Amino acid sequence: AEGVAIPEQDWSFSGFFGTYDREALQRGFQVYEQVCSSCHSLRLVAFRNLSELGYNDAEIRAIAADYTVEDGPNDEGNMYERDAEASDKFPPPFPNEEAARAANGGAYPPDLSLMAKARAGGPDYLYALLTGYEEAPEDVEMMQGMYYNEYFPGHQIAMAPPLSEGIVEYADGTEATVSQMSADVSEFLMWTAEPKLEDRKQMGIKVILFLLVFTGLIYAAKRKLWANLH
Ligand code: HEM
Repeated sequence: AEGVAIPEQDWSFSGFFGTYDREALQRGFQVYEQVCSSCHSLRLVAFRNLSELGYNDAEIRAIAADYTVEDGPNDEGNMYERDAEASDKFPPPFPNEEAARAANGGAYPPDLSLMAKARAGGPDYLYALLTGYEEAPEDVEMMQGMYYNEYFPGHQIAMAPPLSEGIVEYADGTEATVSQMSADVSEFLMWTAEPKLEDRKQMGIKVILFLLVFTGLIYAAKRKLWANLH
């Protein structure tokens, strides 16, 4: 982002043995649901995927039931609305891009499903962006309806600072500071972008262990086969 280095954060999912922190994921989901979802869709995620965050079936049905999805056509050929079910994807906040732009002063709030993979810096960028709002420096002329952000390319972003202290009341009692919510929602969006991260890392560990054992076996076999040759 124009020479501004994105600070690296210390994520639980980084590194060879990294895993997601279920509590952080649930808090991050709360931030998405209560703040970001009013403008940003999450079209690749189905409610039932939330089981990976540690929610049970009843909780997932209850979360889904708060959303309305369009379904159909029915026997009469009409589209109709119904409560969302576990198998539905998160419905978008706006029916189409035009409506989304109309509600956001012409700017388009992008889908967040893969956002943690779409920008250089990944989750570090998301955290930096959410915590990077500042007073514009005096020599910068701000365009109408834009906000100064240290980490957004060009520094002028059409998204108003979405987070403020205490805007979410965490179910687990964690204090909802801007930095806490930014970290949690960034981790949540990393999970939506790479839900199989833990499987991938575990497979890597298994492969390494297998190769170690296999190397030992091959070496022992080689010693045995060649033992009588002088
Ligand atoms: C853009 C995240 C809440 C409106 C973005 C981008 C991200 C993001 C990652 C893309 C930045 C880029 O292109 O590099 C979030 C998160 C939110 C949130 C995590 C919740 C914590 C909101 C809300 C609104 C909104 C509540 C509307 C009131 C927008 C708009 C853009 C945008 C209009 C496009 C900005 C531009 O291209 O100038 N957001 N957002 N966002 N967001 Fe949000």
